[in-house]
Amino acid sequence: MTLTNGSKILVTGGAGYIGSHTVMALQEAGYSVLILDNLVFGHRDFVENVLQAEFICGDVGDRNLLQQIFATHDIAAVIHFAAYTYVRESVEQPSKYYQNNVVATLTLLEEMVAAGVKQLVFSSTCATYGLPQWIPLTEEHPQVPINPYGTTKLIGEQLINDFSQAYQLRAVCFRYFNAAGADKKARLGEDRTPETHLIPLVLMAAAGKRDCVYVYGTDYDTLDGTGIRDYLHVVDLAQAHILGLEYLLQGGKTDAFNLGNGNGFSVWQVMEAAKAVTGKSWKIVTTDRRSGDPPILVGSAKKAEKILGWQPQERDLEILIEDAWRWYQVRSQ
Ligand SMILES: NC(=O)c1ccc[n+]([C@@H]2O[C@H](COP(=O)([O-])OP(=O)(O)OC[C@H]3O[C@@H](n4cnc5c(N)ncnc54)[C@H](O)[C@@H]3O)[C@@H](O)[C@H]2O)c1
Repeated sequence: MTLTNGSKILVTGGAGYIGSHTVMALQEAGYSVLILDNLVFGHRDFVENVLQAEFICGDVGDRNLLQQIFATHDIAAVIHFAAYTYVRESVEQPSKYYQNNVVATLTLLEEMVAAGVKQLVFSSTCATYGLPQWIPLTEEHPQVPINPYGTTKLIGEQLINDFSQAYQLRAVCFRYFNAAGADKKARLGEDRTPETHLIPLVLMAAAGKRDCVYVYGTDYDTLDGTGIRDYLHVVDLAQAHILGLEYLLQGGKTDAFNLGNGNGFSVWQVMEAAKAVTGKSWKIVTTDRRSGDPPILVGSAKKAEKILGWQPQERDLEILIEDAWRWYQVRSQ
């Protein structure tokens, strides 16, 4: 770590799922953190009770607030998680997504440059790739998103590349696959309303909080006919952000990296693993494929392993689900 005394890492969206785990990892690595989150989806109790981090409740798109933050804090770098993340909603309400994921990101970039803060870690997504032309997806794969959510994140990457050229910003864009799991001690975890991710939906059904789990498509050309996704433990994801930050602090140039497990699991495999972990069963409703859902989405994270030295520790699906289940039970008490 090469930070001067008193300097901080500004974490936007630090009260959310991935952001809060990353704040915890930053604290454990000895960094001082300032969280900016409007709590639209974040959790005040994560920030105040668990992380006990310095926290400003406000919006990333609020230019005056950003100016005030940069004027009154010594910010060494920004990790920008804050965004809207629901694919289907982005199709129905694109304006909301362009406003939050593009316009607010542009405001943040402008105020960073104005304040001379030129190091950024940005949350991008495998949704920027669109339909895979090869598997596993590598960073060279064409980025042709098929929904507004993916498009807004791709524009975020493009803004960052242009700001890097023009204003010497240096940034790491992480393209995550599916974040899952929870803090090993169940202090933090996934808790969003509405929930759309497979593993939490399955665990809600296991706990009797949902009537059934829908499986969209059982006739894909995959090992068991269901879709395959790359699930990545959120603690490994958080660790990648420390490495990305350190790469920038050591002078690393703007670049994009996939973060995934490299190993896909089918919907049926997730269900089986969840049954083994929870000892429960639940009603499954099989239905048609959803348009735009690729059969397989698996990423290669070899570049992050090679350049950043990232080594995911938890590649086992059952352990990942075990951690999520432990969290789910603690959270529902
Ligand atoms: N969860 C995944 O599997 C996944 C996959 C790919 C990419 N991502 C990206 O990772 C990031 C974090 O995702 P997450 O799953 O933790 O979501 P999340 O909703 O739990 O976290 C986002 C946080 O940002 C906050 N926020 C949103 N807009 C804001 C604004 N304008 N100002 C201040 N705070 C704001 C929310 O309150 C929330 O706390 C997002 O950028 C998302 O696009 C997530």
